[in-house]
Amino acid sequence: MKQRIVSVVGARPNFMKLAPVDRELAKRGDVEHVIVHTGQHYDPEMSAAFFEELWIPAPDYHLGVGSGSHASQTAAVMQRLEPVLTQTRPDVVLVYGDVNSTVAAALVAAKLGVRVGHVEAGLRSGDWTMPEEINRVVTDRLAALLFIPSREAGHNLLAEGVPGDRMHFVGNVMIDSLCWALSRAVERNVAAQRGLSDRGYVVVTLHRPSNVDDPATLGTLLDALHYLSRDLPVVFPVHPRAKQRLRDAGLTPCRNGGDLRLIEPVGYLEMLSLVASAALVITDSGGLQEETTFLGVPCLTVRPNTERPITCIHGTNRLVPPRRDALLGAAGHAMERRPPVRPMIERWDGRAAERIARVLCEDECFEVEAVEQASGSARELSELQDRAPGQMRSAGMFATKEVLT
Ligand code: UD1
Repeated sequence: MKQRIVSVVGARPNFMKLAPVDRELAKRGDVEHVIVHTGQHYDPEMSAAFFEELWIPAPDYHLGVGSGSHASQTAAVMQRLEPVLTQTRPDVVLVYGDVNSTVAAALVAAKLGVRVGHVEAGLRSGDWTMPEEINRVVTDRLAALLFIPSREAGHNLLAEGVPGDRMHFVGNVMIDSLCWALSRAVERNVAAQRGLSDRGYVVVTLHRPSNVDDPATLGTLLDALHYLSRDLPVVFPVHPRAKQRLRDAGLTPCRNGGDLRLIEPVGYLEMLSLVASAALVITDSGGLQEETTFLGVPCLTVRPNTERPITCIHGTNRLVPPRRDALLGAAGHAMERRPPVRPMIERWDGRAAERIARVLCEDECFEVEAVEQASGSARELSELQDRAPGQMRSAGMFATKEVLT
């Protein structure tokens, strides 16, 4: 009998993670893969465009949940998903990343006694003010199969008492999607179409509550970007949440003497094309921290912490506070010190989804023992943090050895 696997996705960053898993499962004759879209993201450019570009088949079920408070959104996913899982009776439910749809689906499946597989398990920022951190911890606690993208993710889980045999060090599915799409994205040469020169512009995405919900912080960030755009054009595809906050705060980019372009959200290939030939990326997104690291593009993350420390220790990512001088100083520094070669991160090799499929379909195991002795990077990071007197103490923050030692 065929194994039935249900994937539940809802928000933009989920779709890039689902795509490679779906492609791998589609190759197998012994699996029926059912896709449920919760509808957490619903604007065409936040959702349908990604299904199309990533060749994800239309969802088998669409729950139409939409926006709302965290509780109402989470509750709506749970209420609408339960009958779907009761009817489809899957062997495994796969959930992705750390959005509200992820934790909601994990709760429903676990309570129905269905095994939960968490793709991108074990990431921790240690920051309980982030809704995503709560979603990560709860989802991992409920999951029977934890697909980890990096060694320190395994270390985090072991430190929380999760048994090693639940974890599989499969690698990073975001990088699977990137590898799959990169040549087509680069061919599009979106920069040239927008009149931008190779490595001659900055790409920005900001949407986290900590950056956009407070009008003073948002104003400071916009001011810094405007300042930066006097030297290099700055392209900022604006997330609906940030757009709403800009409107609420009455903020518009100042047109005098700079080239700050606020544009509509762009699709996956267009974004990848823009990022691949950017001089610098400024973001608060999780995925972009990883993508820039893989591509060797300098990245500034406007956050006090990251659940992806590997991108700071081995990659191009640096954390910066939302202050104008800090941001401008770090931007100059990051561009000057662009690495000559792309960093190599273990198992960020385009084959994570293949490993996930091997775990699901062939009961393969991916090096739990290696994970147990693996905490090199995590240890390195916590030593760095111990040595840093305050998390936000400098523009370069605690991200690199050379800043601290
Ligand atoms: C969610 C995720 C976040 C992820 C982000 C990527 C959670 C807790 N957060 O944040 O981790 O980085 O997605 O985009 O799940 N909206 C639209 N159209 C849409 C979707 C949203 O206009 O298609 C607007 C609505 O006004 C909504 C607001 O954006 O209230 C926020 O959307 P929501 O899904 O609640 O969270 P995000 O901020 O998108």
